[in-house]
Amino acid sequence: MKTSIYIYFTQSHHACDVLRQLSNFCSELELIQVLDFDKKSFIGLFFDHDKLSYYDYRFGSLSLDFDALLRDFRRQNLGKKELISRAVGQNKVVIDSTFGTGKDSLTLMYLGFQVNAFEANPVAYILGKWNLEKSKIQEDRINLKFGNGLSHYKNLSLVQKTSFYFDPMFRPEKRKALPKKGMQVFEELIANEPKFESAIISEVLAHDLIDRFVIKRPIKGPLLKEKPHHEIIGKTIRFDIYM
Ligand SMILES: C[S@@+](CC[C@H](N)C(=O)[O-])C[C@H]1O[C@@H](n2cnc3c(N)ncnc32)[C@H](O)[C@@H]1O
Repeated sequence: MKTSIYIYFTQSHHACDVLRQLSNFCSELELIQVLDFDKKSFIGLFFDHDKLSYYDYRFGSLSLDFDALLRDFRRQNLGKKELISRAVGQNKVVIDSTFGTGKDSLTLMYLGFQVNAFEANPVAYILGKWNLEKSKIQEDRINLKFGNGLSHYKNLSLVQKTSFYFDPMFRPEKRKALPKKGMQVFEELIANEPKFESAIISEVLAHDLIDRFVIKRPIKGPLLKEKPHHEIIGKTIRFDIYM
């Protein structure tokens, strides 16, 4: 079934080209161009001078800038001691089954891993794909595909030992504080994530070349499967590692 989404162009002269390109990225998305933008009622994609964002009148807008993110990593001097790098281990290749805003995929790429990523939400996917294509990142360093990473990983032709990374959205029953506006937009956008069954972990680990399944959780979030083999614990997050 196709997902329909409105798209607004601040300048309409190259709307046709952009619409064609975005439709080629993901055939499951029907883009409906609107000519008026009312910031009190609009929910959809917003295209302004080559920049594609998602806008929801209730929370604001979400845009991705991967080149800026990489500059931040350089400034922060990110290195192999990062928890995420320790969590995925020694393998050079990582499958990021939950691309989202791309921050974790980009962190892994920056730290030298080759990343095969999946995103199941069509809108989040084309946001990521468009912004990756506009950035200076080469496709062989992060290869983002549309679809459910928990099953589509089987279509990858892996040739070396690989780690599998899974970061589903965590929605606590009670919240001390609301997340930042950008994150609220994102949470609303991806409200229907694919279902996860804990048996998937053993299924993925049965693959000849996948020897590590890493789940990112909030520090106090419940386990998604019984006790992991290792845990890497940070200040606010935790990585549960199954082998
Ligand atoms: C918590 S976010 C991931 C955040 C991500 N690690 C980042 O750095 O931004 C979860 C994302 O994964 C996607 N997702 C969840 N389950 C998925 C699955 N089985 N396959 C592909 N994408 C999935 C959701 O649509 C959402 O965009």
